[in-house]
Formats: sequence, C-alpha cells, structure tokens
Amino acid sequence: MLLEDRTAVITGAASGIGRATAMLFAKHGADIVVADRRRSPREGGISTEELIEHDTDSRAQYVSCDVAEPDSLEAAFTAAANSGGLDVMVNNAGVFHHGNPLETSQNEYDSVTDVNARGTFFATQRAGRRMAENGGGSIVNVASTSAFDADGSIVAYSSSKAAVVQLTRAFAAAVGSSDIRVNVVCPGSIDTELSRDRSEVESEELIDAIPLGRMGNPADVARAILFLASDLSGYVTGETLVVDGGLTL
Ligand code: NAI
Repeated sequence: MLLEDRTAVITGAASGIGRATAMLFAKHGADIVVADRRRSPREGGISTEELIEHDTDSRAQYVSCDVAEPDSLEAAFTAAANSGGLDVMVNNAGVFHHGNPLETSQNEYDSVTDVNARGTFFATQRAGRRMAENGGGSIVNVASTSAFDADGSIVAYSSSKAAVVQLTRAFAAAVGSSDIRVNVVCPGSIDTELSRDRSEVESEELIDAIPLGRMGNPADVARAILFLASDLSGYVTGETLVVDGGLTL
C-alpha cells in the first residue's frame, strides 16, 4: 500500500489513463476525487467512483469540472479537503487534435491549449497553493511523447504537451522548498478511446515501430504515475518519465 491515508484528485479520471490511475491509487489505499467534465466512462460500463467503491476499501467521489475553467476545480479541492486534505494531484485531463496546421482555426487551437496547457498550468498552481498550506504533496502531470516529436499533423496538440513538460520542470523549481514535488509522465501510444481512430494498417505500422512490440495500456501509465505520486520517488522532482515501450528511442 503506497498511498495509505492519502487523498488524490485526478482530472480526467472518468476514462482511460485517469480511470486506471484512480483504480490503482485506490487499491493502494488512497481516497479519490474523480474530477472530470463527464461522469460516464468513454469506454462504457460503470463509473470510476462506483468501481472503486465496489472493488476496493477506498472512498471515491465524482466532482464535475472543466479544467479549461480553473475555478471549476475548486469543488474538487473542497472534496479533497473534506476527505483529509490534498496529498496528490494528477493533471491527466487532455484532448487530442489532429490536422493540417495551415488549416487549424483559432478556435481549434484554443480548445486544445485551453485544456492541455493552460488547464494544466492553473491546476498545478491551485493544487500547489493548497499543498503549500498543508505542508507538501506530489503533483503528476500527463503530457505525451508528442512533446518531443516534430509530427506535422498534430502541431497544436504536441506544442500544448511540450508546454506541460516545461511548466512541470519550472513549477518543480518554484515549489520544491514547500516540499511539493512536480513531475510529468509522457505516454507513447496507449490503447484508449482517445487513440482509437487509427486504421488497421496504421495500427500495425505503429506496433512494428515499438521495441516492446505492443501498444501500451492505461495500467502501464498508471503504474508510472503511482511511482511519481508515492514516496518511492521522494527525491525525484521536475523529472520527465517516458512510458512508451521504447517508441521514441
Ligand atoms: P480519454 O479520452 O480516454 O480520457 C480523457 C478523460 O479526460 C475523459 O474522461 C474526458 O472526459 C476528460 N476530459 C477531457 N477534457 C476535459 C476537461 N476540459 N476537463 C475535465 N476533464 C476532461 O484519454 P486518455 O487516452 O486516457 O488520455 C489521458 C491523458 O493522456 C491526456 O492528457 C492525453 O493527452 C494523454 N496521452 C494519451 C495518449 C494515448 O495514446 N491515449 C498518449 C499520450 C498522452
């Protein structure tokens, strides 16, 4: 049990990587605040908080929020305070965008950066303020290996994720003296609803390019997030952990 008696807020925890992280954290003893703009998982089935209550001894609650509207996160922080205080913040909510950058509209660009970059900045800031008052904590942001690729078809997305990597490093430098660690996970190709619009041929080519020979699953990323959230990584901050089966080697 790596997170006993801790409370974690996880954005985007209704689905995919966030949901797997919430389940794993709960199995390690954490109480969970599922902060998402939707309650039902994108992949269907029962909600994350119901699954946690059913399968673990931890408590879980859903709080509606849109990370593009930082004020909406306050309800999640209140829920965490009522559950003993915010110990871990996982800024996982994110949206994908694909398209010719010469054709990307300002609205499309804003809708990606407002969630991925601006949303993560203000969620990190607000979590950091609470943790500073509480004597410390761990913040884990979720970027992407796209942050390091020059893929011409995902310019808005990849630049928003590069911002997440750099804001993580800079926040870590700013808040370390308050005993707050800030780290970032960069997943490669993970099998979730967000990544399911590839053709069969594209999927086969992708798998051929991954040294470990398979796409990742949400639990692969959740385990890396658990490491960074827990005391196992107590002397690690500002670090970028790539979880991609070797794709970017
Ligand atoms: P997903 O689409 O399965 O889950 C994302 C969750 O975030 C959804 O429940 C959605 O409702 C929520 N969400 C989206 N925008 C939100 C907002 N503005 N406010 C609150 N909640 C919001 O996606 P997945 O794959 O689990 O992605 C999680 C994170 O991992 C994202 O940041 C994504 O960019 C990143 N990532 C995913 C990869 C993949 O291959 N699936 C690869 C690299 C990074």
